[in-house]
Amino acid sequence: MNSRPCIAVLGGTGKEGSGLALRWARVGFPIVIGSRDPERARHTAERLRGTVPGAELIGLSNAEAAAQGEVVVVAVPYEGHASILQSLRDILAHKLIIDVVVPLDPSNPRRYAPPPDGSATAEAQRILGPETPVVGAFHNISHLHLHNLDEIPDCDVLVVGDHREAKARVIALAEAIGFTAYDAGPLANASIVEGLTAVLIGLNIRYKGHGAGIRITGISKPAFPTHKTKDL
Ligand SMILES: NC(=O)c1ccc[n+]([C@@H]2O[C@H](COP(=O)([O-])OP(=O)(O)OC[C@H]3O[C@@H](n4cnc5c(N)ncnc54)[C@H](OP(=O)(O)O)[C@@H]3O)[C@@H](O)[C@H]2O)c1
Repeated sequence: MNSRPCIAVLGGTGKEGSGLALRWARVGFPIVIGSRDPERARHTAERLRGTVPGAELIGLSNAEAAAQGEVVVVAVPYEGHASILQSLRDILAHKLIIDVVVPLDPSNPRRYAPPPDGSATAEAQRILGPETPVVGAFHNISHLHLHNLDEIPDCDVLVVGDHREAKARVIALAEAIGFTAYDAGPLANASIVEGLTAVLIGLNIRYKGHGAGIRITGISKPAFPTHKTKDL
């Protein structure tokens, strides 16, 4: 039996969610792809199993995926962020939520467009309530790096939120798939981390880059720490 926690990915049919799913599936996490259309979720799961044969990877509706996941990743465009969280609020209660959503100006993706709560992560925490830990992470990781499984990602993950233990779990989950991840502070810092994504998109456009990322320097942290399953 798999002792690793099941990870559900809402919007897991998309670029970022399916990339994270692929990476975690490859190292043995059971994955549930969520979608507004269960058939689309099943197709995505089948496609990803083709890349990682033997992976525990299935596709369901977002609600069914949220119910099955111990850890739930929110990977939908910002337009659907508040409504999916509101509709699944009861199902998500007390689970570990990883929010990767970046609110961008729809007419200019180089511009961060924070919601009234200050950030998407803060919006999620308000909607779900303080008993459900929300951690912002992976905002600065382009899907391009996630889908190429031969690539060792040359970028770091910044993790934000007000729940310390939850952040430690997310750092362990990021490091399980080869990233170096850092506790980047409280929920109040989420706007900075999310906003960096708009900066990176602007750099990609200006300098014709592909998947610009960030690296933290000046801190000595092992590149590939090994985590025991209990940490995850
Ligand atoms: N792409 C990246 O490199 C990247 C990097 C960092 C962070 N992010 C963030 O990750 C999130 C997902 O990005 P993405 O590029 O993966 O987006 P995407 O491919 O356009 O969409 C992801 C999935 O969300 C679902 N979706 C679309 N509109 C929705 C709505 N209004 N309500 C609920 N679900 C909806 C769709 O799945 P179904 O139709 O199957 O339901 C879609 O496959 C975004 O918030 C983005 O800012 C992306």
